[in-house]
Amino acid sequence: MLASVRSANLVGTTGRCVTIEVHVGDGLPGFTMVGLPDETCREARDRVRAAILTCGLPWPNRRITVNFAPAGFRKSGIGLDLPLAVGILAASDTIPVDRLQPYCFIGELGLDGALRRVPGAAPMVAAIRHESPGLVPVVPVENVSEARVVVEGRVEVATTLLDLVSVLRDGTPWPDAPPEAVLAPLAAEPDLSEVRGQPLAREALEVAAAGHHHLLLSGPPGAGKTMLAQRLPGLLPRLDDHTAIEAMMVQSAAGVALPPGGLVRRPPWRAPHHTASLIAMVGGGSSALKPGEVSLAHGGTLFLDELGEFPPVVLDALRQPLEEGVVRVSRARANAEMPARVLLIGATNPCPCGGGRPGECSCSETAKAKYLRRLSGPLLDRFDLRVWVGRPSPEQLLDDRPGEPSAVVRERVIAARERATSRGHGPNSTLSGAALDEVAPLSAGALVIVRNELDRGRLSGRGLHRVRRVARTIADLRGGGEMIGADEILMALQMRVDLASTGVIA
Ligand SMILES: Nc1ncnc2c1ncn2[C@@H]1O[C@H](COP(=O)(O)OP(=O)(O)OP(=O)(O)O)[C@@H](O)[C@H]1O
Ligand SMILES: [Mg+2]
Ligand SMILES: [Zn+2]
Repeated sequence: MLASVRSANLVGTTGRCVTIEVHVGDGLPGFTMVGLPDETCREARDRVRAAILTCGLPWPNRRITVNFAPAGFRKSGIGLDLPLAVGILAASDTIPVDRLQPYCFIGELGLDGALRRVPGAAPMVAAIRHESPGLVPVVPVENVSEARVVVEGRVEVATTLLDLVSVLRDGTPWPDAPPEAVLAPLAAEPDLSEVRGQPLAREALEVAAAGHHHLLLSGPPGAGKTMLAQRLPGLLPRLDDHTAIEAMMVQSAAGVALPPGGLVRRPPWRAPHHTASLIAMVGGGSSALKPGEVSLAHGGTLFLDELGEFPPVVLDALRQPLEEGVVRVSRARANAEMPARVLLIGATNPCPCGGGRPGECSCSETAKAKYLRRLSGPLLDRFDLRVWVGRPSPEQLLDDRPGEPSAVVRERVIAARERATSRGHGPNSTLSGAALDEVAPLSAGALVIVRNELDRGRLSGRGLHRVRRVARTIADLRGGGEMIGADEILMALQMRVDLASTGVIA
């Protein structure tokens, strides 16, 4: 007997359709798999056999041949347990073959026949539905909400192999989907109202969020850099539908727990440690090509704390994704393009002792130079905002009046973004020189300041563009008009500390 079951594989954050053909026939008992199965397919085979037997279902002691189609790419066994089991049961007459036709199957089996969550269910289901819009996905309980996001019609739940067999063979009704409460509730976001003082850094966070400007915070230990950075996601607007789905696809593919309902509305926050490997950061690895931190942060914030401690190769590898908003990974048998549009925030001490400023710093000039060399490089170029974070004064720390809450700041951010969008360009951080001339003309007062900075060699051509982009965002936040005024330029210059004078990178 021959049975054919529809399923899918995962490559990066994208699904690829796989059809599993199972033939059970005469000949010596055996189990052969063809069609480029990888090692994990063998594991799937062993799990399927155990699950079928523990469920008390008949295992065909005959010649079993499984073909994974199309042959063109290597198949991973992840998620193929369920379709493989169903295929074997159909090809050996336990389930009528024609009952499989309306469905596609994704799921991992426990040895006891229970179904388990599969990473990448959302992209896999999306791929199948794209190719065959009418098919009804059958997925494990924990994958139901993400599957429902990508499928408008029916999605069915498989709880155990035995229950599924009784649905397909005996016509028992499908089990109900679980209540949403099974999923973990979202933790509270840290709020900006807890930060004392730090007016400039607070404003820089707001500007970063409004104009999508990457932000570097530098300052002595304990000044509150990490604390401030953690409050950036709370200033970002909720993700729009498109980005929320993209973020869900990435997080699903990485096997990260999804929020209730599946869609990722809260901007992600990722803070990889500086010991994170290159693959952990940008993605790749085995044949499945897993998404890395920069993709997991898609739509949200990537925080690199202690920036100078990251190996240069890792920082270098971030340049392409930061530029293009996608990661491209290619391996011998697979290519993947994974979304990676992130707001980057870095934090660093200005020198090994952390003091950084003349009089506060005990480092030798060579030690200082060496430390900064690790940081300097093309990645630094990406930071439109470079802000010095000094230690708050005792008065500020003891002041028990709460600061402005994140929700209020976020409203301003949303309004500023709307202003930027209405001009028909992308976020202000992406404005080209020509676009700046159009949307950020300088007032006479602003021109005088800028000229002075240029004349004194404190601003380069590229630096000028950066300052104008930031000034545009500051003006948008202030509800301002078309012209960039002196105030906005001065504020933008303050958010661009100069290494030469402070020990901070220019
Ligand atoms: N402005 C502030 N308002 C309120 N609390 C603060 C402030 N600055 C620092 N703190 C307190 O000090 C702690 C340490 O700050 P944080 O870890 O953010 O410093 P840091 O600049 O990241 O230091 P390091 O360079 O050592 O990483 C915070 O968890 C917070 O409790
Ligand atoms: Mg810190
Ligand atoms: Zn020092």
